[in-house]
Amino acid sequence: MSLLRTKSVEQSIADTTDPEFRLKKSLSALDLTVFGVGVVIGAGIFTLTGRAAHEVAGPAVVISFIVAAIACGLAAMCYAEFASTVPVSGSAYTFSYASLGELFAWIIGWDLILEMFLGASVVAQGWSAYLSAFFEQLGVVLPQAVSSGGVVDLPAILLVLVLGGLMTIGIKESLRVNMALVAVKLFIVLFVIVAGIMFVNPANYTPFVPPSAPTETASDLTQPLLQFLSGLEPATFGVGGILAGAALVFFAYIGFDVVATTAEETKRPQRDLPIGIIASLVICTVLYCAVAIVVTGMVSYQDLDPSAALANAFAFHGQTWMATIIAAGAVAGLTTVVLTLMIGATRIIFAMSRDGLLPQGLAKVHPRFRTPWVISIVVTAIVAVVAGVTPVGILEEMVNIGTLSAFVLVSVGVIVLRRKRPDLPRGFRVPFSPVLPILSAAICTYLMLNLSVETWLRFLIWLALGFAIYFAYSRSHARLGRGGATPQPASPPQS
Ligand code: ALA
Repeated sequence: MSLLRTKSVEQSIADTTDPEFRLKKSLSALDLTVFGVGVVIGAGIFTLTGRAAHEVAGPAVVISFIVAAIACGLAAMCYAEFASTVPVSGSAYTFSYASLGELFAWIIGWDLILEMFLGASVVAQGWSAYLSAFFEQLGVVLPQAVSSGGVVDLPAILLVLVLGGLMTIGIKESLRVNMALVAVKLFIVLFVIVAGIMFVNPANYTPFVPPSAPTETASDLTQPLLQFLSGLEPATFGVGGILAGAALVFFAYIGFDVVATTAEETKRPQRDLPIGIIASLVICTVLYCAVAIVVTGMVSYQDLDPSAALANAFAFHGQTWMATIIAAGAVAGLTTVVLTLMIGATRIIFAMSRDGLLPQGLAKVHPRFRTPWVISIVVTAIVAVVAGVTPVGILEEMVNIGTLSAFVLVSVGVIVLRRKRPDLPRGFRVPFSPVLPILSAAICTYLMLNLSVETWLRFLIWLALGFAIYFAYSRSHARLGRGGATPQPASPPQS
């Protein structure tokens, strides 16, 4: 059955040596960890900590962060096993091509495109919002119509264009910029933790888990699918609020999976990928929990600002200069997230084009920069448009559902690949398989059920579009279906 045809792991690796599509192998474990931290710490910690604490979880938001970290940790181990077994570009997409079949691979690739395109766009919008806040604190007000929340978000568009240029010139160069910005971002997060401790009032931790209360504003479409299906009255806070908070702050962890998309550019993928993925996740979890504890201790969850909690917690205590520094750090921090998500999107589309599921002409590598320049330009243009003209605040949950669905498929894929190819060398193995991969799939599914009905509807439309493209184009153009590994470049090699 062609829908279930799989591309062998050996073939996936062989395809990466095709000179026309070969990427430069230059990344180390440290590069990958920096890359991971660079994309993970972003709009999530800077904005969602306050929103989750204020609206659904109270001071127990730290438990939401731990729940989300457990889901991500389990999925990260599955990613690490896959990445160390199938070290080729494309992340979960490639892994599932080798284990679950072409149709699943297509769906997962389609989900990841959703995650990274919208993720980059959403964070670019957040960047622009922080830029406005920063300028305001300096007394400069940007014109409303062409800045954050206006008709066209010009700063967001400019950011995407500059980053797209960097990305096209080469990943190593992009990573150098990334490394400097990540250092600034880590400094700011540590600054929040260390400086914030002085303003903590233990009374703010009571009640730690605010009692469950009915939601006033929830409509059928905005309530979590789980509540909608169970017919229970929509509620916030309490234990349910902690879980809803986990589904929300999950966004803050998104990105460690993008590390796996650079497998082909990694010097020793079997060793370096698991280190990069797991190290970045551990670093972020520790920092997030510390920030959540400090910020909910500084200001009562009822008074926390749902949009810019970190900076405003300091403003609340009269420390405006500290608030300004944090806003500036957020601007630097969000830059790296946009860049890394754009690089991730490029790599996924590169892998899918090389396989013929998307037009192969897209996958051409630049003769000098060794980057997939055509895709880089397409990604830059689309992210710039989406970030520039989509209203702020409606796409975050779409990013979460796209990512969680990819995690579920990766977790299942680990079990399937162990059964089908127990012989393959694995640089990293998930302990207690299949228990942990099953648990990973179950927790991620549960978090998905905590997302809103409207998010599910949008997601189903996105999937329907994906199926339409697959059956109309990809299935008949796949290299696998046209004689396997024989390279069929869409245009003559460049020299
Ligand atoms: N984890 C990334 C962020 O929080 C997407 O911005």
